[in-house]
Amino acid sequence: MPKSDFSRREFLQASAGALSVSLAPGAILRDPDPSLASPRSVPPSDRVRFGIVGVGMEGTGLLTTAVQLPGVECVAACDLYDGRHELAREIAGKSIRTTRRYKELLDDKAIDAILIAVPDHWHKQVLVDAVAAGKDVYCEKPMSHSPADGVEMVAAAKKTDRIVQIGAQRTSSVLCAKAKELYDSGAIGELSLVEATYGRNDPTGAWQYPPPADLSPDNLDWDTWLGSAPKKPFDPYLFARWRCWKEYGTGVAGDLLVHLISGMQFVLGINEAPKRASAFGGIFRWKDGRNTPDVHPVLFEYANVPVYMRLTLGTESPEVTRFMGSKGIIELSEFALSYTPQPGIDLAPSYYCYGLPSRLKDAYFKQWHADHDPKPGEEPAPQTVSYRGNDYDDLRPHLWKFFQSVKSRKPVVQDVVFGHHAALGCHMANESYYRKSPVYWDPASQTIKS
Ligand SMILES: NC(=O)c1ccc[n+]([C@@H]2O[C@H](COP(=O)([O-])OP(=O)(O)OC[C@H]3O[C@@H](n4cnc5c(N)ncnc54)[C@H](O)[C@@H]3O)[C@@H](O)[C@H]2O)c1
Repeated sequence: MPKSDFSRREFLQASAGALSVSLAPGAILRDPDPSLASPRSVPPSDRVRFGIVGVGMEGTGLLTTAVQLPGVECVAACDLYDGRHELAREIAGKSIRTTRRYKELLDDKAIDAILIAVPDHWHKQVLVDAVAAGKDVYCEKPMSHSPADGVEMVAAAKKTDRIVQIGAQRTSSVLCAKAKELYDSGAIGELSLVEATYGRNDPTGAWQYPPPADLSPDNLDWDTWLGSAPKKPFDPYLFARWRCWKEYGTGVAGDLLVHLISGMQFVLGINEAPKRASAFGGIFRWKDGRNTPDVHPVLFEYANVPVYMRLTLGTESPEVTRFMGSKGIIELSEFALSYTPQPGIDLAPSYYCYGLPSRLKDAYFKQWHADHDPKPGEEPAPQTVSYRGNDYDDLRPHLWKFFQSVKSRKPVVQDVVFGHHAALGCHMANESYYRKSPVYWDPASQTIKS
């Protein structure tokens, strides 16, 4: 790293304390952290300067959110489609530099960090080049487009001391933090099952996005967009709807399942690939030429716990994750968390005894009530505890944590290893679907095997 850059980084680190914000464990805030809502003025020397690569649907959210955070400044934006240079300047101001070449951002010594929001098939190359150039990186989920990409990304990041955070944002939410606190405190006892589900039922939810009206090979570098994928003639639908094809996207697994897996990894403190996965599904609803399933139920074994996750683009259903144990259930969803304790004992005489003759049944029921009935007025009043919080998909807390780590050099939770493991769950779900066979992760060969 050049000296001038190093000095500035050192300065940023030294002043990290000034911006630190603590989200008290367990505090559920209706509004985002107050210090995020009212940015203070931060002197230029104390700012983290970032560049963004990919200013499409997600990049727009990242950029819009990041430029509103205190102590953070966008200096450059890169995209292969010139319309998105115009958009980036609309968001971050006319003075930012725009280019089609992300390596220009990596060569820029004034840039500390790179936000990566390109389609999945480009994640690896941009991340590997960015950390090698000495940049801290926020890379969108799913971290990798293949297991091999993930292995290379982990190795590249580990060769450096760069901060790398992957962008499954809910792991930074207060709702996930509260779920983790409840789980760690033993609230649900012995965990025996996790189930998670999410469904959509509309063309936009199924990725049938309208391409930009002016898109053409004149304002888009189509060959570079294809990257390492097979060459194809310019296709605006492919540009907008790349998620539908496995050559560029990672299916509903990489788009949606990865959020469920990342949230689960965080709450349970799991940081490893699933041991096994068995997936089913098919293309039931959106027969538009896509080659990734639109219905994708998956059974995993994670650290000896069965995990059942099901995704569908065919029927709308709320996103919810249930952590189920001997003492109850934690249910996590976008704006809420509930904890329902279960005593795990009979609360009524066993219905088995209805199948006995009266002389035995009556005696059993009489004795049971004598032994168990509470005194009148002392009946138990079981309760469900619920919390409401800020949207767990809000980008602000996750970006905030990233930029704080850039300053403090303290590690992030959702680092490159965490992101690799979450992505491996998605790749295993996909491989099992395509191979029509259960699969497992083989750590020795770092590959998925049937
Ligand atoms: N965290 C989330 O909730 C969330 C939500 C949506 C998307 N994402 C992720 O964000 C990423 C981007 O998705 P999107 O929906 O914004 O896609 P998009 O197609 O809308 O935007 C991607 C942009 O990247 C540009 N691009 C592609 N290759 C490039 C390259 N080599 N150099 C520079 N620019 C390049 C494209 O021109 C395009 O403008 C994906 O990995 C996706 O999974 C995350």
